[in-house]
Amino acid sequence: MNHPQPPAPGPSNDLLTIALLSIDSPFFYRAGELTCEDVPLAIIAAAVDTPVYVYSRADLLRRARAFLETAGAATGPGRALVCYAVKANGNPAILRLLGEVGLGADVTSGGELFLARHAGIEPGRIIFSGVGKRAEEIAEALTVGIRALHVESEMELAAVAAVAERLGRVAPVGVRVNPNISATTHPYISTGLHGHKFGVPRERAIAILRAAAAHPWLRPVGLAAHIGSQITDLDPFVQAVRFLVELAGEMGREGIPLAYIDAGGGLGIDYQGAAPGAADWVRAVGALVGAAGYELIIEPGRSIVGRAGALLTRVVYTKEQGQKRFVIADAGMTDLIRPTLYQAYHPILPVVEPPKAAGDDELVDIVGPICETSDFLARDRALPSIAPGELLAVLHAGAYGYAMSSNYNGHLRPAEVLVEGDTFRVIRRRQTYDALLWGTE
Ligand code: LLP
Repeated sequence: MNHPQPPAPGPSNDLLTIALLSIDSPFFYRAGELTCEDVPLAIIAAAVDTPVYVYSRADLLRRARAFLETAGAATGPGRALVCYAVKANGNPAILRLLGEVGLGADVTSGGELFLARHAGIEPGRIIFSGVGKRAEEIAEALTVGIRALHVESEMELAAVAAVAERLGRVAPVGVRVNPNISATTHPYISTGLHGHKFGVPRERAIAILRAAAAHPWLRPVGLAAHIGSQITDLDPFVQAVRFLVELAGEMGREGIPLAYIDAGGGLGIDYQGAAPGAADWVRAVGALVGAAGYELIIEPGRSIVGRAGALLTRVVYTKEQGQKRFVIADAGMTDLIRPTLYQAYHPILPVVEPPKAAGDDELVDIVGPICETSDFLARDRALPSIAPGELLAVLHAGAYGYAMSSNYNGHLRPAEVLVEGDTFRVIRRRQTYDALLWGTE
């Protein structure tokens, strides 16, 4: 919903936004300075330099617990598994924190399986989704004994069967169904229509489940759907889950009982417009699944980590050109590609609180140092006048921020910091130039 909308320019746009959101955000102004929990962001920038991702431990925990509690309440104790989508943010310290409060993991590669295991997440709480699992990755998953692999094609089912037989381990398989449900979001992150590469349509899901049930090395265990990401309307989720529950019922009557329904991830957050809360989403999908007697799996990513993180960047220069005013920051599309890739809107705040009603807001493009015209963090954004050396915080950047960063243009990946109360620690050091040589001869 939020992605395609152009930012509505207006005076102190983001200051107003944050005033509304701050009740629900770990980033807020205190004594004129933007802080994360009890740490002024300027202190982090001075200690660690910029660009740096800053995350609030309390916010991560609060959201993780909210998912666990509401999922448990919707289905009954022990009947719900919240598998955090590692792709949103795979920082090991964050994974460990989320794993310790009781989240499982939704992984999409051998690399993410490695990260989830490294963080101590039990295999029984890990599921493996994705259209292109290689035989080695399937073998890794079966060897550690994860809860299920979600297959997305007949060929993949055959590959899983072959690996399972070779290893002598029965593979628990779920089928990712493509329910052909349209969800309003950016087209690049909509996944639930037949024209998308994800999942299989109903009839083929049935055929795959029958084949799995008949195979000595396969065990059908569940059904999954993930219709897209940053969805702010609950209706398509409910439709998808109804579809899965109905299909699972049909399979059960046929003698192929399934244990769980996986409603996927995809709940949007309030980058700009409103978004439903975790509890509303979990109740809506969980009630249907619980009432039908299945276990519930959900795979939230963004809605757990998105608001917990901000990208802190320093303004290097300002310049005027044509009709434009540019604020050139030391972070760009290599640190946070979402504005470039999806025209995504992230609120951006000066770290030093501007005087209220200063009236000197100007429309600026906040751009990075990368040699691409598409390298921007915001376009036509109303900001109080900004001078070189000032710090800006790009909010709601905890999900798909660092995770999608790159070394393009020889730009080093930023540091990551975790704030806890009035203390903070570096949970990933900034890369150094040797990262640019890693693995080369
Ligand atoms: N489960 C599966 C199978 C997924 O593919 C995804 C996300 C999730 C769960 C988690 O979805 P979430 O709750 O985070 O919406 N890079 C894009 C988002 C891509 C999402 C890909 N799949 C962005 O920055 O908006």
